Amino acid sequence: MRKDVRILLVGEPKVGKTSLIMSLVTEEFPDVVPYRAEEITIPADVTPERVPTHIVDYSEAEQTDEQLYQEISKANVICIVYSVNNKNSIEKVTSHWIPLINDRTDKDSRVPLILVGNKSDLVEHSSMETILPIMNKYTEIETCVECSAKNLKNISELFYYAQKAVLHPTGPLYCPDQKE
Ligand code: GTP
Ligand code: MG
Repeated sequence: MRKDVRILLVGEPKVGKTSLIMSLVTEEFPDVVPYRAEEITIPADVTPERVPTHIVDYSEAEQTDEQLYQEISKANVICIVYSVNNKNSIEKVTSHWIPLINDRTDKDSRVPLILVGNKSDLVEHSSMETILPIMNKYTEIETCVECSAKNLKNISELFYYAQKAVLHPTGPLYCPDQKE
């Protein structure tokens, strides 16, 4: 049995990484957030899988590339966050983030990835049509989820999926339906 799970959030600036972490912890949407949240540890007894879980934020504004690479190598699962209303942040998932992570992890022991589409409160349409081909292309992507830090939608689910990706990895093609 694993002794803990380390979840890292990466993605383009302003997609809402810090807001997601703060929303999870406080159960409300913070109007103002720092660039980077302090690393938090969720005690085993309040996590669904009963394993202590560390959640680690990343911010380009406060961290060097070297610090990012170190966090990537320490992570057990990486959430690549994009904003569903920002095409560029989706494009960067495949043009920047996945190659960057793959370059820094062992081919045989690849870290599971979760694609996280934040700010679902701002759009009518799901980004799944754009995301599915990416899911199919990269087997290291464990699952995807659309969520909103603002209306707290799918926030606890996101961290549960991340925990589960480490503890009970499944096939690459599973993509849960968005919860309405
Ligand atoms: P960096 O630290 O600069 O990389 O940004 P970040 O990814 O941590 O984003 P941050 O949490 O700072 O949020 C950026 C902006 O998006 C802020 O103005 C947030 O209030 C807003 N925001 C975050 N999540 C949501 C969301 O779910 N819905 C909406 N409407 N706005 C959001
Ligand atoms: Mg931030």
